[in-house]
Amino acid sequence: MIDFDKKINRSENDSRKWSGRMDFFGREDILPMWVADMDIETPDIVVKALKDKADQKIFGYTMENKKYVNSLINWIEKRHGHKLSYDKIAHSPTVVTSLNLLIKILTNEGDKIMIQSPSYPQFINQIKNNGRKIVINEMIQKKERYEIDFIDFEEKAKKSKIFILCNPHNPTGRVWEKEELSKITKICIKYKVKIISDEIHSDLILEGKHLPIASLGKEIEKLVYTCFSSTKTFNLAGIHSSFVVFPTIEDKKHFIRELALIGVHEPNSFCMNMVISAYNEGEEWLEELLDHLRKNVSFAINYINKNIPQIKVEKPEATYLLWLDLRKFGLEDEELKKKLVENGGLALTMGSAFIGSGFARMNIACPRYMLENGLERLKKAFE
Ligand SMILES: Cc1ncc(COP(=O)(O)O)c(C=O)c1O
Repeated sequence: MIDFDKKINRSENDSRKWSGRMDFFGREDILPMWVADMDIETPDIVVKALKDKADQKIFGYTMENKKYVNSLINWIEKRHGHKLSYDKIAHSPTVVTSLNLLIKILTNEGDKIMIQSPSYPQFINQIKNNGRKIVINEMIQKKERYEIDFIDFEEKAKKSKIFILCNPHNPTGRVWEKEELSKITKICIKYKVKIISDEIHSDLILEGKHLPIASLGKEIEKLVYTCFSSTKTFNLAGIHSSFVVFPTIEDKKHFIRELALIGVHEPNSFCMNMVISAYNEGEEWLEELLDHLRKNVSFAINYINKNIPQIKVEKPEATYLLWLDLRKFGLEDEELKKKLVENGGLALTMGSAFIGSGFARMNIACPRYMLENGLERLKKAFE
């Protein structure tokens, strides 16, 4: 049994979440539950892989090791029942790097790109920063969960060059069902809309089953660019490793050429060993982590329902993020943030960053003592 509740200390960890407390929130004593990484140690086998590499004492230019890509192929087949083809997979430092480059490769300035709101902020930023236009398919908030407005989706698909899917969805925690993904694929095939499917959260399924959208048939596979990464799963965001699975080998070559143009050639010295060990030996650890996250989710939701009933929150089906509906307080995001920071001493990501004003996202991937502290601070913020 792994002790996910043990005390952690990230004060010397150079982490955006903890070291950035003063810069981003003006308070050193704030509890940071915003950035989407975990206050949980990565598996010991991954640390060992890093140490083994360090013991080699030479860190010159690297070359991609076949075991690196194969570890992803085996993992995706084992976890999600989908067989990837080696020749169509490329390493990319981060998913955000891939989003940026794929937008550049697949569209021209002024082209329209569809996303769903609320949206992971980097989808919005990468589209805007590349001079493309955002088309928003607003999700519908049903009683229990968010759903897709397919009438609107089809209208918007008609004028969009690509659609960026978040599968599963950050920040709502939706795990898309087969029927929903099938409807998306039908519409995208009909209007020849390419899909960038960001599946970085696909291993963090709390309820249901993840379906890679490219696994839904040969026709859709030709339109889909899937981003996978081990970094959310095993808390490795700082090591810079991710993958893109392309529809064709030519697409992959094009992407690699573009990466090389900005000087990114091969994976760094450490990430390959770490990812290989995480994917090849980390499954048991992940199952225990998921158990811990499920317990944290239940604890947090019970606490909020009982102690802060003005806040509405649904159980996420995936991720370690709670999407808190704060609209009952009737405040603008700036005022909500002020209350959270000044009264509560709590750092959350405010909804406006997601095109979701009136909401805030809370990261509950932490030991229980920290979660309890965070929930007390949340309560205090609105007392
Ligand atoms: C949906 C989604 N995509 C991408 C990322 C970032 O991935 P990377 O660190 O590989 O750029 C995140 C991080 O929160 C995310 O939630």
